[in-house]
Amino acid sequence: MLERFKTVLSPVLGRYFADFGVVSGKGCYLTGTDGRQYLDFSSGIAAASTGHCHPKVVKAAAEQLKKLIHICIGVALYEPYIKLGEELKKIAPFENAKIFCCQSGSEAVEAAIKLAKYTQNKPGIIAFEGAFHGRTLGALSITTSKMKYRDGYEPLLPEVYISPFDLVRVEELLKTKAIAGVIVEPILGEGGYKMVGIDFLKALRKLCDQYSALLILDEVQTGVGRTGKWFAAEHFGVVPDIVALAKGVASGFPLGVCLAKGEIMDKWSPGAHGSTFGGNPVSCAAAVATIQVIEEKKLVEKSAKLGKYLIKKLKDLQKKYPVIKEVRGLGLMVGVDFGDSDYVKKAVNYCLTKQLVLISTGADGTVIRFIPPLIVKKAEIDQALGIFEEALINV
Ligand SMILES: Cc1ncc(COP(=O)(O)O)c(C=O)c1O
Repeated sequence: MLERFKTVLSPVLGRYFADFGVVSGKGCYLTGTDGRQYLDFSSGIAAASTGHCHPKVVKAAAEQLKKLIHICIGVALYEPYIKLGEELKKIAPFENAKIFCCQSGSEAVEAAIKLAKYTQNKPGIIAFEGAFHGRTLGALSITTSKMKYRDGYEPLLPEVYISPFDLVRVEELLKTKAIAGVIVEPILGEGGYKMVGIDFLKALRKLCDQYSALLILDEVQTGVGRTGKWFAAEHFGVVPDIVALAKGVASGFPLGVCLAKGEIMDKWSPGAHGSTFGGNPVSCAAAVATIQVIEEKKLVEKSAKLGKYLIKKLKDLQKKYPVIKEVRGLGLMVGVDFGDSDYVKKAVNYCLTKQLVLISTGADGTVIRFIPPLIVKKAEIDQALGIFEEALINV
């Protein structure tokens, strides 16, 4: 497959180092083009929250597919978009939440930035060093997890201030610039699964209130149960103004959501933003089913419980194999830091030969992440840990 890939797909996508193709997925398993079963601890980069092809998600999407694929909310009202708004309102980390839907995490971030700028009537955005918010030009302007992502695209958005995780610097910017919003990931996703910390987030909330800026949480990767709460914000007792969601929200269907407090959303004038495909009926139906499955199967609680188990087991491995520098994370969003990208590449490749799919993260790719579907069973975690330990022995 790799040869065909090279013939017809853009080399910009060419980060794959293994000729690994997939034909289907079920639960936590993928069937490779080689006919073998692979245990998937990547979830398609934290997107297959209810596992691959969860029957309830498939049913909801298939039923919608037969009824109506597309109309656009600008043309007519339709049930799945509104139903998704109602479902998200119930679990949102603030009262009276309203949604704007798009197709991806980057676009959810774009929407969040635009909403902040528009409603605050100020141009400035503060983001943090090492953050990843996406690849569209606006989201890229606030992305610094890998500087190579920006190479060739500068200059990007003006009035963007990239701050270190330093409250003095943030306050200085808030004092001296016209800042509409401060955007932060509660756990740096592509930045290496580093925790931002409760004190920092709480202080950020206070500063935003003091200087009339909106606090935007990018929960594209951490949201919808991944960290053992519906939203990672809940771990920190911090109430954001806007939340960007995507990835796991629709079990892998392309959907991004900008979720905001009603009083902020209500200031966004009709037509000030929009999208033809945003809130596509099939993606919204899949998202509603995803939320229902997460609720019915208590996957948020499971993520918290199994995440603790996974972290403990990985920390036990760290004691045995000092090549592991740190284990960190929350719920089923766990990073194992080796501080060595060559090692990580070899370990990930080794695991793949043993039918375990893992992916790396971090500025230099020195961290292996464990992000299985939230439906993962303890036995599957043990199976993954067994293969991972074998890699630690053999690499
Ligand atoms: C925290 C965060 N924000 C935004 C994005 C961008 O999402 P997408 O790739 O769907 O545009 C990602 C993707 O990894 C992410 O992890």
